[in-house]
Amino acid sequence: VSRTLVLVKPDGVRRGLSGEILRRIEAKGYTLVAVELTHATDELLAQHYAEHEGKPFYAPLVEFMRSGPVLAVVAEGQGVIPGFRSLAGATDPTAAAPGTIRGDLGRDWGLKVQQNLVHGSDSEESAAREIGLWFPNL
Ligand code: GTP
Ligand code: MG
Repeated sequence: VSRTLVLVKPDGVRRGLSGEILRRIEAKGYTLVAVELTHATDELLAQHYAEHEGKPFYAPLVEFMRSGPVLAVVAEGQGVIPGFRSLAGATDPTAAAPGTIRGDLGRDWGLKVQQNLVHGSDSEESAAREIGLWFPNL
């Protein structure tokens, strides 16, 4: 089995969607291994989003992720890394298919960064790295 890091981003927490997002993860049959409501630091976000440094949306992305608490989650199950990304849907909530978290619950608010409710690790390597950052004691 694998593990993935899911973040309910500040827009999801603010809109009261944390429970709905956890419900979808559990309904799919994945197991919750760790859940923590936390306010991310600049340092943690710089490491988490290192691959995006220098891109035009990097600064607004970090500012958005600092705008409120984030729910950090480790979920476990066979195929959970691509499986959660399927549940999340496309990065752009307007393009995300109905049935997905972003497709059902997200929309384009015309802001500087996609406020798309969730993050999910995109590979085994990213998952191991990101879980180490957000849950150093796990
Ligand atoms: P995550 O699960 O959050 O990592 O989303 P992703 O893997 O679908 O997207 P990616 O890692 O490429 O980008 C990380 C985040 O940056 C996205 O979730 C968006 O919030 C934001 N982002 C990515 N690409 C763009 C873009 O082209 N324009 C804007 N405005 N924001 C973007
Ligand atoms: Mg990503």
